[in-house]
Formats: sequence, C-alpha cells, structure tokens
Amino acid sequence: MQNNIFSGLFVGQNLVVLKEVDSTNTFLKNSLSNSKPLPEGTVIMAEDQYAGRGQRENTWHAEPGKNLTFSILLNPTFLSAQQQFDLTRAVSMGVYDALYPLLRDSLKIKWPNDVYYQDKKLGGMLIENILQGAQIKHAVVGIGININQENFHPGAVNATSLKKILQKDYDLQYILAEICNRIEAYYLQLKAGKLQFVRDLYISRLYRLNERHWYKSNEKKFEGIIKNVQPGGLLMVEHDGQEYTYNLKEIEFLDD
Ligand code: BTN
Repeated sequence: MQNNIFSGLFVGQNLVVLKEVDSTNTFLKNSLSNSKPLPEGTVIMAEDQYAGRGQRENTWHAEPGKNLTFSILLNPTFLSAQQQFDLTRAVSMGVYDALYPLLRDSLKIKWPNDVYYQDKKLGGMLIENILQGAQIKHAVVGIGININQENFHPGAVNATSLKKILQKDYDLQYILAEICNRIEAYYLQLKAGKLQFVRDLYISRLYRLNERHWYKSNEKKFEGIIKNVQPGGLLMVEHDGQEYTYNLKEIEFLDD
C-alpha cells in the first residue's frame, strides 16, 4: 500500500515534482492551455525555481532544494470575481494552521498574504486568478515558504526561515502535505458558503491588528492602527482621526 501523507480529498493527490523550472506559477498557468485538463488540486513543486515571481512584480529567491516553492491548481467556480480575496484568506489560513504547531502565537499573517514570524517574513503567496465573466474559473495558488535556508539574498533583509527560527531541518514534503491538507479544509469551508467564518479567523491572525505602527502612503509617513480588512480585501487603517482604506500598491509598512 502506498503511504500517502496527503490526507485530503484532492489537494496534492496529483503531485508533480520538477527538478528545475522558471516559476511553478508560470508552468501551471501554461499547462491550463493543454488539451487534457489537469485535475483540480494538482500541485506543481519545484526543487529549483530559478525565476520565481513575487507580488508587486518582485522576484522570489529560494536556494535550491531547501525551501517550499509550489503552486496548486484550484477551480473555485463557486466564487465571484468580487470574492477573490476570500480565496486569499482561505489559503493564508491553511498555511497558518500548518505552521502553527511549530511557531505558535508569534506567527501572523501580514496583509494581504505574507506569512510572518515576529517582524520577519517566512513566506508569501502569489495567487493568480483566471476569470470567466464574473466568476473565477481557475486559481493558480503559488506559495513560497522558507524552510531550511540559512543565508538570504542581500536584498531580502527581512527574510527568515524555519531553520533560522528553530535551529532544525524540516522535511519539505511533510510540511507541503500539511499545508495542502489545511488549505483544502478552508477551501471546502468557502465552498460550503462559510465566508464569514474564514474572514473572522483571518482577521484574528493579522499582523499588527489594533496596534499603533508607522506606514507610508503617497510619500507621506504616518502612525496608524490597522482596524480591519474589508470583504473585498482593502486594508482599513485609522490615522489622523479617520479610517482610510488602502490597496496593496497604496500603502507600505514601515519599521518602527
Ligand atoms: C511574495 O511574497 O511576493 C509572493 C511570493 C510567492 C512565491 C511563490 S514560490 C511558488 C510560486 N511560483 C512563483 O513564481 N511564485 C510563487
């Protein structure tokens, strides 16, 4: 009997491990135009992702063989284009729950979908949705988590890894399976219409929620307090006596 650590119904049941690829997101997106469709839940994992893509057109650097760099194919046709951020929440919560037994309450989700340990970035996500009319047809959920890497690119001053935090090496496939199983569970909550349940959990795990910190927007620095995230995903920050909303490109988190 095969020993399958992917205990869910579909996420990770079709696992493709590539020795090297430019970007697992690009690879998976390109596969969508093949005549034979990939099953939902297919995971493309790269041992060496040499041109990984991050948010805001950034590059995602990961030392070969030491980290998790993978993409999951989901077909959330039950979500409208306006509900894209609910998928972001479900995926973030899945990653959070998988890492929580190791990192406990210092683990947070930095809006919109970075994984933080204290004030350091442990990982991030790049979710690329393919829309059909007003619905989501496919979602390519790209996830990068720093696991056993100890030295980082000079530009990545804020990066950390499980190894740096816990001084131990971790089995990549085991953590991959944990993440996939947890994401599937939250995804099924969304499918069952439990959007508010996932929204509430996401908020409760948010980095800097209800704390006073420094931010920058439009070249202006200000001290503000993150109050909430709107259903559509805009960040709500209170400053100068009012609440303002920001999208990803409009606000920068500063160190205090
Ligand atoms: C970010 O924090 O900027 C998002 C990083 C997302 C990186 C992952 S690694 C696997 C997948 N393939 C990519 O090219 N990017 C995502």
